[in-house]
Amino acid sequence: MSTMAMDTQIGSGSQAAATEAAKPFFSVRDVHAYYGESYIVQGVSLDIRKGEILALLGRNGAGKSSTLRTIARTDDPQMRQGEIWLDGDPIHQMKSYQAAQAGIQLVPEDRRIISGLTVEENIFLAQVAPGTGWGLDQIYESFPRLAERRKQEGVTLSGGEQQMLAIARALARNLKLLLLDEPYEGLAPVIVHEIERILHSIKPLGITTIIVEQNAVAALKLADRAVILDTGEVAFSGTAKEVLDNAELRQEYLAI
Ligand SMILES: Nc1ncnc2c1ncn2[C@@H]1O[C@H](COP(=O)(O)OP(=O)(O)OP(=O)(O)O)[C@@H](O)[C@H]1O
Ligand SMILES: [Mg+2]
Repeated sequence: MSTMAMDTQIGSGSQAAATEAAKPFFSVRDVHAYYGESYIVQGVSLDIRKGEILALLGRNGAGKSSTLRTIARTDDPQMRQGEIWLDGDPIHQMKSYQAAQAGIQLVPEDRRIISGLTVEENIFLAQVAPGTGWGLDQIYESFPRLAERRKQEGVTLSGGEQQMLAIARALARNLKLLLLDEPYEGLAPVIVHEIERILHSIKPLGITTIIVEQNAVAALKLADRAVILDTGEVAFSGTAKEVLDNAELRQEYLAI
């Protein structure tokens, strides 16, 4: 083989690797969703690379929770148009349990800790679901507060501890895309920092995250990318830094 041919081969190989790295891991393409006849998610598109954190922001009623629910394939709102792709898998035709099996885990605002079960039983129940996630040891290492309270009933935990348990439960399942709806709501800054530390620590493991937060500054400091919704449409898409640096944009859509 001539040197030239070899060069070409090496060149095209690294180019292919570069294309692979630039390809989005998760993609939402022109998604439209309705509650009955109420048209709420109006053509949302977004892309995230593997291991990135995306802050999904916007005013009250902008459609942030509805977008997360659509991605998680809940029945309500009903998706009527568009495509959702995760790691090469089409998600748009799936039911919510199938999307969860494919690696999409939604932690809703109310956290859904199951009453009557201890912390540990809540985690066990998540592990029963098909697909493999973290074991108990790994969870307790990352969440020492949960280890201390393993025998306590989950619903008696503090708000911050319940949020940690909800995230731990997502990690106990097959987790590729973590959807967090207002994880910091009602939490003291010290607990917010602890959750931020956990979200940072799972990034290098390739877990990709979408975070919806009223505390936009905290979310933007954590995130790589940002999407701002306005009445169900994407008003801005770019880096988190662009939003932090753009006072006009923050004022108009985030009132910060
Ligand atoms: N179950 C429902 N049935 C009908 N309309 C709904 C339903 N849930 C939400 N909506 C409407 O959809 C729109 C978007 O709501 P959504 O909860 O997605 O907004 P949001 O951006 O998460 O707001 P917030 O910041 O207040 O949580 C709102 O106008 C809301 O009233
Ligand atoms: Mg909401």
